[in-house]
Amino acid sequence: MSVSGQEKLKVLIRRAAIQKRVREVARQITKDFKGERVHLIGVLKGACIFLSDLVREISLETSIDFIAVSSYGKGKQSSGQVRVLKDLDSSIEGLNVVLVEDILDTGLTLTYLIRILQQRRPRILRVAALLDKPSRRLKPVKADYVGFTIPNEFVVGYGLDYAERYRNLKDVCVLSLPPA
Ligand code: IMP
Ligand code: MG
Repeated sequence: MSVSGQEKLKVLIRRAAIQKRVREVARQITKDFKGERVHLIGVLKGACIFLSDLVREISLETSIDFIAVSSYGKGKQSSGQVRVLKDLDSSIEGLNVVLVEDILDTGLTLTYLIRILQQRRPRILRVAALLDKPSRRLKPVKADYVGFTIPNEFVVGYGLDYAERYRNLKDVCVLSLPPA
């Protein structure tokens, strides 16, 4: 993996551990929605890898859609402003929806998404987040399915980026930047 400048990566969660946990979360979803269909909505772009692994481990009838929102710009800090960049392709009215997020940090993005998706009257709306950084929360929001609870570190890999880079790392890694 090519790392630019003085940026440093340290493995936090290994590929094998991620795979195992994704399978467990999928098994739980399969159990919770037994005999029903689930509609997974991935939050682009960070959740695309988590969603692709997760959906293949769910033993139910499934469908998928994606929504893209922006809140972070190019850096590490949240602007707090959420905007829909790409909306869903189809209606979710009456569906069992699982919103799939890469990471739950301040909770601003998820609070916004839950609000706009609830207005579209799904039968059920649940949230699956691969990672959870509860220490950073500004809004009282929780995921129904959490892969891993992590400390307050900036992480990349397995879909998560820093300025669009590092999404292809197989492990989730802590990124440290050189002092500004
Ligand atoms: P929130 O609105 O602060 O909860 O942020 C959610 C979004 O911020 C995630 O979907 C990520 O795109 C991004 N984000 C938050 N923490 C990290 C991180 O440690 N690494 C990469 N992206 C992050
Ligand atoms: Mg994201």
